[in-house]
Amino acid sequence: MAKVISFINYKGGVGKTTTTFHVGCGLAMFEPKKKVLLIDADPQTNLTFLCADFAQWEKQVADVGSLETVYSAYLKSERKSLHDLVWHRPMTRPELANIDLVPSTIELLDIDLRLQSRTKAATTIQEVAQIHLDQRSILLRAIEEVSSDYDYILIDCPPNLYLATQNALYASDGYLVTLMPDHFSTVGVNFLDRKIKQLLRERNLSEQIVNPASDGMRELPYFLCFVKVNVTAGRMQLVAKEQMATVRSSALFSKKVFESRTDDYKDIREATTEQLPVYLNSPGSQNDSLYREMTKEFRSKFPLS
Ligand SMILES: Nc1ncnc2c1ncn2[C@@H]1O[C@H](COP(=O)(O)OP(=O)(O)OP(=O)(O)O)[C@@H](O)[C@H]1O
Ligand SMILES: [Mg+2]
Repeated sequence: MAKVISFINYKGGVGKTTTTFHVGCGLAMFEPKKKVLLIDADPQTNLTFLCADFAQWEKQVADVGSLETVYSAYLKSERKSLHDLVWHRPMTRPELANIDLVPSTIELLDIDLRLQSRTKAATTIQEVAQIHLDQRSILLRAIEEVSSDYDYILIDCPPNLYLATQNALYASDGYLVTLMPDHFSTVGVNFLDRKIKQLLRERNLSEQIVNPASDGMRELPYFLCFVKVNVTAGRMQLVAKEQMATVRSSALFSKKVFESRTDDYKDIREATTEQLPVYLNSPGSQNDSLYREMTKEFRSKFPLS
């Protein structure tokens, strides 16, 4: 069974997509090579367009579908497995042959409204709990049939904690929060931590209500990693250093922060434009080695069982 990890932060522009892509490519490219499925859960479709160009994506979505197909099927009381939706080898470079993708579309944008408008009235606490679980387990059930085809399944979440992200969380064996070393991110990570843990508690509670015999106290392993670290002339800026130290020394996160980090450097933007990971677009560059380190640490922090 694959290990499913979500890349989460309700803040926008903090490197979720770029990190999902680079860790995914790293896992697939470097020994021991792993089979990786990338799932784009964000209606912005950024991860999708890191892997494929517009014309290919249009054809794929028209012929096969996208992640939104899973939710549409649920709304029609049907079930759609990712098995029928996976885009095999969307990237042509042979080094990236171990990567498959479930692409996204803009239609995922109003999935919360669509799910809520179809919510049946519940009369008992058990029904409320069952609906709560059902609406957040759509992706989990869709992943089940492909899980044995992969080593890692990485989910790129949108910058919010609404239902698409909650579905990702319910489907995950763990999650990674990407953080920028600035004041807002440092303050926000405490709120984010509290909110995610609350969402997981709500799941546990719903599971216990629906099935009192269940061991409803599951927690998810999680880590934080710093990306887009400001570096000038090869040296980390003081503010970045201080913000990173603040998070690393806090009681809550001291054991949770990756040792590795990646930098805000032009090699990432150049690689993104070429729809390639830095490993292939600018080997030997700053983020080539930094993202290799991060991939290595990801393997050890989220080991395969
Ligand atoms: N080391 C780095 N790691 C990740 N992103 C970086 C890095 N350096 C620069 N960036 C840039 O930061 C920008 C935002 O990254 P990205 O789109 O991955 O963030 P995001 O959190 O997924 O955003 P959104 O919340 O909108 O989905 C991109 O332009 C990316 O190229
Ligand atoms: Mg993104």
